[in-house]
Amino acid sequence: MNPIAQELNQTIKGSNPHIFEMLSDMGKALFFPKGILSQSAEAKLKADKINATIGIAKEGNAVLSLPSITRYITGIDPDDYLSYAPSFGIAELRNKWKTDLYKKNPSLKNKKVSLPVVTSGITHGVSILSDMWIDTNDVIVMPDMMWGNYNMTFCVRNSGRIVHYKTFDDGLTHFNVDSFEHVIRQQAKENDKIVVVLNFPHNPSGYTLSEREADRVAHILIDIAHQGTHVVAACDDAYFGLFFEAETSKESIFSKLCGADERLVAIKLDGATKEDYVWGFRTGFITYGVSGDDDTLLEALEKKTAGCIRGNISNSSHLSQTILLKSMADENYDAYKQEKFELLKRRALKMKSVLKNPKFKDAFDVYPFNSGYFMCIRLKDVNAEDLRVHLLENYGTGLISIGDKNIRVAFSCLEENDVETLFDIVLNGINDLRKG
Ligand SMILES: Cc1ncc(COP(=O)(O)O)c(C=O)c1O
Repeated sequence: MNPIAQELNQTIKGSNPHIFEMLSDMGKALFFPKGILSQSAEAKLKADKINATIGIAKEGNAVLSLPSITRYITGIDPDDYLSYAPSFGIAELRNKWKTDLYKKNPSLKNKKVSLPVVTSGITHGVSILSDMWIDTNDVIVMPDMMWGNYNMTFCVRNSGRIVHYKTFDDGLTHFNVDSFEHVIRQQAKENDKIVVVLNFPHNPSGYTLSEREADRVAHILIDIAHQGTHVVAACDDAYFGLFFEAETSKESIFSKLCGADERLVAIKLDGATKEDYVWGFRTGFITYGVSGDDDTLLEALEKKTAGCIRGNISNSSHLSQTILLKSMADENYDAYKQEKFELLKRRALKMKSVLKNPKFKDAFDVYPFNSGYFMCIRLKDVNAEDLRVHLLENYGTGLISIGDKNIRVAFSCLEENDVETLFDIVLNGINDLRKG
């Protein structure tokens, strides 16, 4: 094993041996190379005469550039977007995101978290989580309704094993914490380590836990950690902030898990993708919370994460990071975000009011939803894929079918005026299929 990896492992073991044990084989082997990168960084500070270290091209004192590129980007110096960003991400952006994490999650106060490391979107964060903490056959506990891409990352790429709990009770009245607890405790009996992904607001259902439910979920995970199971608790907060109802928990469950037990590592995956409506920017973050007060452990995890990035995509888009940083520094940033929040909230509430109409009752059930971009319905007596294709071919209407019974609607891209029309079309389509 590389000596730098060994050094990082010693640091982690010295601070908390449980965290070291939880790392995957790849996680243990990862390190951030000194070589060219650190020599370039040193030269940047000290080589004031000639600096021939960096793998970019320069002209005079600036980065060499083509006008056919730079003419499209005004207001930003080419040095701030054409050159490489560090593998860790731009330092100012990492600091700003961290400051905002504490603002957005007030109960993180007095808890220590790492500096966020910049990822190329949240999918990339999920993939880093998988590389660093999941070995072949490791168990990942997930709801039976989940974002399909987890399967690709955890199972296809890293040979993990997903074990499901039931997302909701049969009557679709609430999140099924009982099923969660049953599966978690069962898996804790059978395995030394379990990985759990908590995704709220949830894709596809659009559900976020109430404060009471979040307390219970956190308590269950902390309890099994107390009793000896290693817990990797990842919070996929892709849709963070889009909470539309009073009783919904407004903070990430990361706050409750952070530092709660020495056998628990809390990992926050979030980003600008959906929070700031920049899907194509590919700017996400991965942040760690562990028990104890030791900065060196968090720094070692940051370095392993940056090594994971270095060996895969090297670094994330500099242009996207620079624009995001500028946007976050804009005096109207919060007001702009609030305006779009209100727009999405109006759409979600409109869905709720339209769906109260009893005419839909014998055609489909509505899953609980209160946040995010999506909601789902459960069809009573027609097949979801048949309905999807029928609506597309006969009504020019596109929805997502999931399994035999569920249809996902993205209200995030639906004008308020179209909500009623959409569900009337769905009902018509169901009635067409019923007639055969
Ligand atoms: C739950 C969840 N996590 C992660 C992502 C991916 O986000 P990104 O586009 O930043 O990779 C999505 C997007 O569809 C999602 O629904």
